[in-house]
Amino acid sequence: MSKIQTVSQTASNADAVTSTAQFLSPVVLGLQALTINGKQAHWHVRGANFIGVHELLDTVVAHAGEWADLAAERIVALGLPIDARLATVAAKVPATSVPAGFVTSDAVVRDVITDIDAILADVKAAIDGLDEFDQSSQDIAIEIMRGLEKDRWFLFAHVAE
Ligand SMILES: [Fe+2]
Repeated sequence: MSKIQTVSQTASNADAVTSTAQFLSPVVLGLQALTINGKQAHWHVRGANFIGVHELLDTVVAHAGEWADLAAERIVALGLPIDARLATVAAKVPATSVPAGFVTSDAVVRDVITDIDAILADVKAAIDGLDEFDQSSQDIAIEIMRGLEKDRWFLFAHVAE
């Protein structure tokens, strides 16, 4: 009786696997942080355009969670783990610009944009770095960049002069 063999490797080569983990891990951690800090902003925003900004921040949070899942599961699909425990996120992601306490809508929109820009830098690095190693993983980074830049625009439109 033959044993069922577990297929541990995909068609992706070792460079593709390690590059995917290297470049998508910071993106996952940054997006996970955005899900938490975005909620902080959602709960404490006050002032002009309250409802619009309050609701938009929930959309930003929802998208961040979806994209973190997308990138994390690409890493795991290729066979590597990702450490996205809360303590790891806190240690590796730069501190949020979102303050504690209540905050005006203009200020918090700018703060969340600052957080998004830090993530976008990692996403851009992933697009560039994955180009020669794994285009399927690069495609995920491209999808995230497209969506995150759209959310950034929706936020920025609230404070643009
Ligand atoms: Fe809410």
